[in-house]
Parts: sequence; C-alpha cells; structure tokens
Amino acid sequence: MRAEDLDAVMEVERSCFADPWTPGLFLHELKIPFSRIVLVRWRNASGELLGYLCRWLVGDEVHILNIAVRPEWRGRGIGRALVELLLHEADERGATMITLEVRRGNAEAIGLYGSYGFRETGVRRNYYGRGDDALIMTRTRGDAAGTVGATSSVPSVGGD
Ligand SMILES: CC(C)(COP(=O)(O)OP(=O)(O)OC[C@H]1O[C@@H](n2cnc3c(N)ncnc32)[C@H](O)[C@@H]1OP(=O)(O)O)[C@@H](O)C(=O)NCCC(=O)NCCS
Repeated sequence: MRAEDLDAVMEVERSCFADPWTPGLFLHELKIPFSRIVLVRWRNASGELLGYLCRWLVGDEVHILNIAVRPEWRGRGIGRALVELLLHEADERGATMITLEVRRGNAEAIGLYGSYGFRETGVRRNYYGRGDDALIMTRTRGDAAGTVGATSSVPSVGGD
C-alpha cells in the first residue's frame, strides 16, 4: 500500500467494519518500519481493490492488525491467500509466533484462522467496546493445519 491507495482502502474498510480504521491509522502504519500492508487487486484494467492485510513483523513475532476482503468478493479464497502469504513470510523470518485479536462473534474470521492452526489463547474483555470481547488467537511455529509450503489451491498473492 502507498498513500495514494488510501481512498480505495478506506472504501473497502468502511464496507467491512462497523468501526472502521480512520485514514490516519492507515497512514500511520505506512510510516512504521516493521508494519506492512499488502493489497489484493483484480488483475484487469480497473485494478479494483479486493482486500488487504496489515501486519507487524517484529523480531520473531508476527501480529495481524487488519485483514479485510470486499464483501462481494468473499468466499473465493482471497482471505486464505492473504493468510498463506503471512504464514510464508513468518516461516521465512523464522518467526515463532503469530498473534491477532478477533471479535468473539466473528465466525468467518475465527473459522479461517482456526483452519490454519490458530488457537484461542486469551480474551481481551470489552476490547471493541462494552460487552464486545476480543479473542486472542495464536499460532506457534509447527502448529498443525495449513502447513507452510503446502500445495494450495487458493489464489496466490505476491509480497509487497
Ligand atoms: C475474514 C475474511 C477476511 C475472510 O475472507 P474471504 O476471502 O471470504 O475468505 P476465504 O474465502 O479465503 O476463506 C473462507 C474461509 O473462512 C472460513 N469461513 C468463511 N465463512 C465462515 C463461516 N460462516 N463460519 C466459519 N468459517 C467460515 C472458512 O474456513 C473458509 O474456508 P473454506 O471456504 O475453505 O471452508 C472476510 O470475511 C472479511 O473481510 N471479513 C470482514 C473483516 C473482518 O472481520 N476481518 C477479520 C478481522 S480479525
């Protein structure tokens, strides 16, 4: 992601979350050396933005801050492709742990992470507001499903 992608990113962000990140938050991430945001675009003339993944690569840990796929493009493997990109990246860096927070009721995201061996390791009470908890999900090196490097049928997403 570059600053000029901000409007398109915000359009997708607003279509995906009731409490979207602000433009300033994305711009802030672009300035952080260990933060990376990769975009998925439709490879046609329009280059429509379909989704993105923001993560921190800090030491031997990776943290997912934001992942989103445009609603009308969901269920086609884009989320999987983004998570697999992240797993490869983590593997290449020799990361020992990947973490994230996810809203307790977010079945799609929890199902996606769970299929790659992420497990619930904690709860942050009221993280998203009163009565709206976050689950902490963690995948440690060597955790089961979605083995890094395994042959995959999902669309491929290049690194940024
Ligand atoms: C989570 C999200 C990124 C997934 O993107 P996607 O492109 O639809 O995901 P994919 O098509 O690659 O994978 C779907 C996988 O998610 C899981 N999933 C999808 N819907 C599900 C549901 N209703 N219940 C449980 N798991 C579900 C499954 O594991 C599924 O894999 P399968 O199709 O092989 O069974 C997308 O739903 C999204 O943008 N949600 C809104 C933003 C958000 O909540 N982000 C997560 C913040 S932590």
